Amino acid sequence: LLNKKSKDDTYVSEFAQFESEQQSKAKATTGVSDRTRPQQTEDEYEYVFDPEAAIKWQSEAPIDYDPEKLRLQSMLNAAEKKRNSIDEVRKSLPVSKYRTEILDAIKNHNIICLSASTGSGKSTQIPAFLYESGFTKPPPGSSTPARIICTQPRRVACMSVAARVAEEQGVVLGRQVGYRIRYEDKTDPLATHIVFETEGILLREISSSPLLDNVSVLILDEVHERTKGMDVILGLTKALSIARPDLRIILMSATSNSQKMSQFFDGCPIFYVPGQAFPVDVHYLTSPEANYIAATVTTALQIHITQAVEGGDILAFLPGELEIITTCELIEDSMRKLGGRVPELVICPIYSTLPPEQQAKIFEPAPPGTRKIIVATNIAETSLTVDGIMYVIDCGYVKENQYSSRTNMEQLVTVPCSKASVDQRKGRAGRTGPGKCFRLWTRQSQYDLASETTPEILRSNLLDTVLQMKALGINDLLNFDFLDPPNSDLLISALESLYALKCLSPTGELTRLGRQMAELPLDPKLSAVLLHASEYSCVEEALTIVAMLSESGSLFIRPPPEKKMYAESAKSKWVSREGGDFGMFLRIYNDWVESDYSSFWCKDQYLNYKGLVRVRNARDQLEKLCDKVEIPMSSAGDDYIAIGKAFTAGFFQNAATLARDGQSYRTVKGGNNVFLHPSSVLKQMHPPVRTLLFYECVMTSKEYLRSCIPIEPSWLFEIAPHYHKKEVAEASKKMPRAPAKAKVAKADSISPGSKNPFPSDVTGP
Ligand code: CDP
Repeated sequence: LLNKKSKDDTYVSEFAQFESEQQSKAKATTGVSDRTRPQQTEDEYEYVFDPEAAIKWQSEAPIDYDPEKLRLQSMLNAAEKKRNSIDEVRKSLPVSKYRTEILDAIKNHNIICLSASTGSGKSTQIPAFLYESGFTKPPPGSSTPARIICTQPRRVACMSVAARVAEEQGVVLGRQVGYRIRYEDKTDPLATHIVFETEGILLREISSSPLLDNVSVLILDEVHERTKGMDVILGLTKALSIARPDLRIILMSATSNSQKMSQFFDGCPIFYVPGQAFPVDVHYLTSPEANYIAATVTTALQIHITQAVEGGDILAFLPGELEIITTCELIEDSMRKLGGRVPELVICPIYSTLPPEQQAKIFEPAPPGTRKIIVATNIAETSLTVDGIMYVIDCGYVKENQYSSRTNMEQLVTVPCSKASVDQRKGRAGRTGPGKCFRLWTRQSQYDLASETTPEILRSNLLDTVLQMKALGINDLLNFDFLDPPNSDLLISALESLYALKCLSPTGELTRLGRQMAELPLDPKLSAVLLHASEYSCVEEALTIVAMLSESGSLFIRPPPEKKMYAESAKSKWVSREGGDFGMFLRIYNDWVESDYSSFWCKDQYLNYKGLVRVRNARDQLEKLCDKVEIPMSSAGDDYIAIGKAFTAGFFQNAATLARDGQSYRTVKGGNNVFLHPSSVLKQMHPPVRTLLFYECVMTSKEYLRSCIPIEPSWLFEIAPHYHKKEVAEASKKMPRAPAKAKVAKADSISPGSKNPFPSDVTGP
């Protein structure tokens, strides 16, 4: 691409000048095989541009860059788009051409697999076809419509697809067409015909209505993603199809690999819808590039500067939220430096914790004369379809949950994508016209990719899955009809953990506590905290912290660079040693309540107002559920001993103690070497706290603990004597103190007047 002359040479020379400015910051990145390349640490993201190492492309096809042709094509596309009404768009989708055949197949078979490439119209059109053909007619003697349920693996997809279908049907979202996700039900029990819901919601629905009485069609969308929820649903659906032969079941997938699914459902028919894919040229790096963030930024700018703007939007795939935020900031920064001499670039990040109103931005067309770049996780791989993408930049990595039953640790790990996954990503560039895909790895290393992504049920913690299955009355887990049976170690480890949490009796039956836990839409450890919080009279505080943990990733707004100091000092008033991250969440929420839920206050404090509104909503819903499972309300104020003990009751398996180096930590069970995440307030504590509980462990270059609270080691034995040996608790008391150079705690790190359970730590050696 760089070798091609742009029509406007000034762009190229400006860009070259900008590149040379960056050279001062450049780091040598050559000579590293990209499959074995060292990964960046979370606190190491910075713009690194090395003109030697990046970006020379090896192409499968020559780049036929003809700006005039492209411009003409995109003008035609734009004009055509305008002319087309929603109905015409619907008619043009590949599945619409087979409407009659698909409906006939559904009428004639109670289960079918429907396979069509992403963007063919599966999610939006199939429920609509069924609705329009009377599949939701109320049963005799009733005026309530039967329902079509369509599951989605992600909350974002439920909301956006429901909104699109409501728009296409010309109805208000929440009436005839609605969605249900955790903490939000936008349906009307008397009027809703089509419901888009997450797999977790469907599992809850099956536990309260095992035969899905009022449902006429069950559509399982994106089955190829093989989430663990979907794998349980598949087993249940097989039994359901026998108990309810009138129920229509459609298994929808974006891959053509449906034979396995069909075999599982006794050879049910597979309906393939041919896609309308345009050719996509694939370009590989000529030499490995270690820093995929810098490579993404450079490639995006190269495309933007040298290729015609209209109709040629960019979609860049990165593994996670932090990488996406960093990339967007770097692109923004570069665009600012290039000034008004290049066309505007509309930057749209998308990841699951991004507030919904910002997520919706990805569907808005870029204003004329500008280009849109969507920087996404694998959420945009098959779940969300955005029109007008001509260029895909693929970093080749994805974040995946991995669990080790040996260490009892679940980690979010950045791993190379599978071949199936990178092919899906490539396909995003060829939906509305010919496209280009830039892969940030060499042609040679593509042969190292695994062919398929490992199903979640074979690699993640099955605690919530097993609890849910027990609540559904499935006791014989080893003989459950799984598409791919999980390793018995994973099942046994989940059973042991649930037993340790007192959810299961010694014979494996659900206890009263276990039944209460299954009622709460939370990770069993969090449910355990709420259920035990009444023993420590801190249910109010536990509710707030649990609700805040679900939004912890999107709580703070990044301040502009000149306000960074101000934002940091605003944050420091919530920091306390004894409360750690949990204490900070509690204080933020309480201060917001005191401000009368003010949006101005949030803006002033660099907090995400909409995120806090969702926390309030989640907290309200959980409070109602606490009432249902008979947890009486109580408050302990800022007594962090009570709060810490309540969290120990749920998270005693997630304890870590300070290691001998005085910086890293070791997990109490398993002895893994782990580090505090840079975002944790405990990272600021001098001397470091000795023992803590962590909410989650994230693996990047190291194993990082995120969202932590300090505890006394003796609590582990006091609260979970069946899990922790007394000697372990004693040993962690004798852990080395911080190195001699450690500073004494800052005065502002201890909140005035609060009870401090760690006097010895504070005074230091
Ligand atoms: O499910 P599948 O990937 O096959 O396609 P879809 O999600 O039904 O999308 C079909 C078309 O609907 C897309 O090409 C978009 O034009 C449109 N769509 C949209 O505008 N907004 C959404 N939230 C989803 C789809």
